[in-house]
Amino acid sequence: MPGKAYIHTFGCQMNEYDSARMMGLLQKMGFDPAGSPEEADVIIVNTCSVREKAEQKVYSLLGRLKVHKKRRGATIAVGGCVAQQLGEKIFEKAPYVDVVFGTHNIDRLPEMISRARGEGERVSGLEMWERPSTFEGDQYLEEGTVKAYVTIMTGCDNFCAYCIVPLVRGREYSRPSREVLDEVRRLAERGVKEVILLGQNVNSYGKKNGDCSFPHLLRQVCRIDGIERVRFVTSHPKDFSDDLVSCFGEFEKLCPHLHLPAQSGSDRILERMGRKYTRDHYLSIVEKLRKVRPDITFSSDFIVGFPGETDEDFRQTLSLIEEVRYDISFSFRYSPRPGTRAAGFEDQVPEEVKRERLIELQSLQNRITLENYRSMVGKKVEVLVEGPSKRDDNKYTGRTPCNKVVNFEAREDVKGQFITVEIVDAFSHSLAGRPV
Ligand code: SAH
Ligand code: SF4
Ligand code: F3S
Repeated sequence: MPGKAYIHTFGCQMNEYDSARMMGLLQKMGFDPAGSPEEADVIIVNTCSVREKAEQKVYSLLGRLKVHKKRRGATIAVGGCVAQQLGEKIFEKAPYVDVVFGTHNIDRLPEMISRARGEGERVSGLEMWERPSTFEGDQYLEEGTVKAYVTIMTGCDNFCAYCIVPLVRGREYSRPSREVLDEVRRLAERGVKEVILLGQNVNSYGKKNGDCSFPHLLRQVCRIDGIERVRFVTSHPKDFSDDLVSCFGEFEKLCPHLHLPAQSGSDRILERMGRKYTRDHYLSIVEKLRKVRPDITFSSDFIVGFPGETDEDFRQTLSLIEEVRYDISFSFRYSPRPGTRAAGFEDQVPEEVKRERLIELQSLQNRITLENYRSMVGKKVEVLVEGPSKRDDNKYTGRTPCNKVVNFEAREDVKGQFITVEIVDAFSHSLAGRPV
């Protein structure tokens, strides 16, 4: 019965990892990956509900997928965070959907797909457990993949006032370290050279359940042969230990780049967000890291227009950006999410103000990004080549240790290799290089 399967992924890296696991499970059932939804017999939409806009995108995609159901009887399954949040309501909104499964039910996907295809029944799996997954089986990787994600913990217990993630991903759970290390070793055997360890807050790994701390796990991952680069995301500033700072001084493999979401530069707003750190504490982490790893670069997430944010609060966010000089910031207008505390706060900021603040923040960040990128011109850096450039057939694309994209021309196929390039030009989101 199997044919081809297609997965469309919205949202964060954890969703990308989950999708790769889903494809691994479908492959075990006999499905081959499809290049597009047109040729697929099973279509899975892995959804994100972090902001309202993300959720709307899910519905517009589902609307477009309806034709595949009509045309060739494709089975349509909706998983991930919107599925967890809305559950069977999705069947009402999109009656052509066959399967709705939540974030803790990935392991059951084969059984649910078989039932939907065999008996033509509607299937849902929405329960949440203490241990959300057995993590059995390997993730699907395209031929020649050099970089892979490994989720080390799931869920989140922080309940930041704006955030829906704890509601749709459940309680924090740390995977046993042996299970994580086995997975990284298997990836190394498959040719992967860079791993990115994932969790909503990796710094609390092992604190509630589990068998070691995050720095301990990280050191063991760094010692695995074949893995040449290690990164992790996301770090919550409140739990960033000195032991973790030390790791950056111990391992060259641990890349000199850190995504450290600040969300705001104002202590008043940080307090209302329930982030549990101050601007000064945040800056002290940045300073300590720069001491042990002078070449380290930073990126961050910011929310503008959180309820009660005044112009003065917003100025403090801008001044934090100037102070840290991030390479990149991902910035969002505050979006009220159902079931979160902040959605009920009375002093919501008008959309128009949010929009203006976002533009101002982004233009400041763009200026700093370009300045940082320009300062790379003339330097020689080692690039891990991820594959041919998507925009230009003659070029290859890779990343520097500090996570900047570099495009360059090469005479032979260099995918998967480490190449030293000289940076010759800088653009707003990438660098141009020349192999030396
Ligand atoms: N666990 C990560 C964040 C995961 S969500 C952390 O604590 O840093 C990714 C980003 O989405 C957040 O960093 C935040 O900037 C943004 N975000 C989350 N909820 C949001 C909301 N309701 N409105 C706007 N942005 C939001
Ligand atoms: Fe959301 Fe906060 Fe958890 Fe991050 S730490 S996922 S922002 S609740
Ligand atoms: Fe979105 Fe769920 Fe990730 S809400 S950001 S896909 S954890």
